[in-house]
Amino acid sequence: MKKLIIDGGFPLGGSVKLQGAKNSALPILAATILCDGECCIDSCPRLSDCDASMDIIRYLGRGVRREDNCVIIGDGSISRYDIPESLMREMRSSIIFLGALIAKTGHASVSFPGGCELGPRPIDLHISAFRQMGVTVSENHGLIDCTVRGKLKGATISLPFPSVGATENIILAAVTAKGTTVISNAAREPEITDLVCFLVNCGARICGAGESTITIEGVERLDGTYHRIIPDRIEAVTYMSAVAASGGSAELRGAVPEHLRAVVPIFEEMGCNIVSHDGIIRLTAPKRLGAVKYIRTMPYPGFPTDAQAIVMAVATVCGGTSIFVETIFSGRYRHVDELRRMGANIKIEDRVAIVEGVNSLSGTSVDSTDLRGGAALIVAALAAEGRTEISSVHHIDRGYENIENKLSSMGAKIKRV
Ligand code: UD1
Repeated sequence: MKKLIIDGGFPLGGSVKLQGAKNSALPILAATILCDGECCIDSCPRLSDCDASMDIIRYLGRGVRREDNCVIIGDGSISRYDIPESLMREMRSSIIFLGALIAKTGHASVSFPGGCELGPRPIDLHISAFRQMGVTVSENHGLIDCTVRGKLKGATISLPFPSVGATENIILAAVTAKGTTVISNAAREPEITDLVCFLVNCGARICGAGESTITIEGVERLDGTYHRIIPDRIEAVTYMSAVAASGGSAELRGAVPEHLRAVVPIFEEMGCNIVSHDGIIRLTAPKRLGAVKYIRTMPYPGFPTDAQAIVMAVATVCGGTSIFVETIFSGRYRHVDELRRMGANIKIEDRVAIVEGVNSLSGTSVDSTDLRGGAALIVAALAAEGRTEISSVHHIDRGYENIENKLSSMGAKIKRV
């Protein structure tokens, strides 16, 4: 069982380069199964979730290899339409292969993703959209079977909630469908725009990415292409939080400030100085951080749910009271018990967390409850007095490339054992 050992209390400095965005890489890797030619996905982060996606593509019949930062999807053709449960279980977002598989082969048979560490994660919006596009969907013994006679049909789909995964799945199903698909109340996350950018380079006809209405005109086929993944905005928030909580001053390289518009004002409210120029963001923490009055997680361009736990870790050592409201996932406060073990003062009432800042946290043994909850514990450990041991590091490895090396290069005392 791998652990991270962190000795806290050392202000971070220097600079760190951001990885490619996990949440772009996963749908883009799924999208490559639609392409006839070779795809080269640059800045594809080295994460266990990306490895799981590569395994799925291999299983389905395409050759996949990594050359430095690029993942190359080369020879072979898609010869299967099932994804075994073992591969589905490795990565919960594997449901993102559903739309692409149906579009490519007319079938998909995958196991139900089930509940996850963030609470129930239904896929009713995905299924309802596929049905509107002519897919027959049946669910038996935890398996979802999807079949379409002939080609998928374009449809006008109105999402009751701007689900990221459902928007991506509909786009992937619609790119080679017969006719035009219009998604209203689509998710507007930068990762959706990145997926669309990739698909358009492959020959897809899509407009409106980044807006609430996306229109997709089906094309006959897609070619391969070269695509560079956008920088990971949640990794950016993580390093900003680590620098702030440790009382340091450091640069993030490759950041896109526009993607961080909901986040930068929060750090400014805490008293951090933030300057950005030419893809670099420098954050300098004040002597004592101030509380943030109110953070409500919302779909993009609102404050991201993926940043909630991480920023909460900073709030635990701010002077004053910070209030968080988690509106996206019901089960997303599992890190709170672990932060409390380190001395944090947090009260939870349903979807509201009230954080009373303490003067200091103290290092102890804690367990990563999920990917971002684990990242929050790292941030807390960097601020804490003494040594923190974080277990269940595999959760953190799903989303962070080389996290201990990057933090060490910024002056953190961190090692993996
Ligand atoms: C994606 C991100 C995840 C992020 C989340 C919200 C990836 C790989 N993952 O997850 O990191 O936290 O967006 O920004 O990109 N819902 C339904 N029915 C559905 C689909 C979703 O009720 O069919 C609900 C979910 O339970 C949740 C909310 O909608 O409460 C948001 O989910 P969604 O936007 O779909 O998140 P994911 O795509 O799973």
